[in-house]
Amino acid sequence: MFRRRIPLLAVAAAIVACSSPAPPPRAPAPAAPGAAGPAADDWAHVMKQVKLRYERIEDGLTEPAGDLRRVAAAAGEAAELMRLGYGRFEDPTVPGFARMARDTESWFLQLALEARQAHGDIARELFLGERKRHCGDCHDAHERVHG
Ligand code: HEC
Repeated sequence: MFRRRIPLLAVAAAIVACSSPAPPPRAPAPAAPGAAGPAADDWAHVMKQVKLRYERIEDGLTEPAGDLRRVAAAAGEAAELMRLGYGRFEDPTVPGFARMARDTESWFLQLALEARQAHGDIARELFLGERKRHCGDCHDAHERVHG
């Protein structure tokens, strides 16, 4: 039976282990997911994730039964995603890319703050009044360079 052979193999392995140099220390475990920011493969992937949060914010601020806590959570997540635009996925070929990513992050953080404080009207005004600039300017800048 297979199990009977294990002790013999274990003894053999122990002998080999004693006569060989100590193994090198193991590499540290990879950082926990999220430790280095949200998981995303590329900027297009980040944008898809931002869009989901953006729609959640829009629903929360424009529907009668909108939930401001949900808006605050979505805006906080969107801010974290936008941070990748002046970090891992900054596109130096598009003038102002990092600055626009930072501005949009600040906008989402402000939205989160207002929503968390139950300032629905202020959050709505901030969202509706500035979304075109924040989402549009960078897309236009990208198009001017890359078509
Ligand atoms: C800092 C620049 C920047 C900002 C700010 C920005 N975008 Fe984008 N976005 C891009 C670029 C560049 C692409 C094209 C990505 C590609 O195809 O590689 C893109 C593409 C997209 C796409 C298409 C993704 C896909 O491939 O399916 C969506 C949706 C999108 N953006 C939503 C938004 C929304 C909503 C906002 C505002 C909250 C926003 N973006 C703000 C740069 C930006």
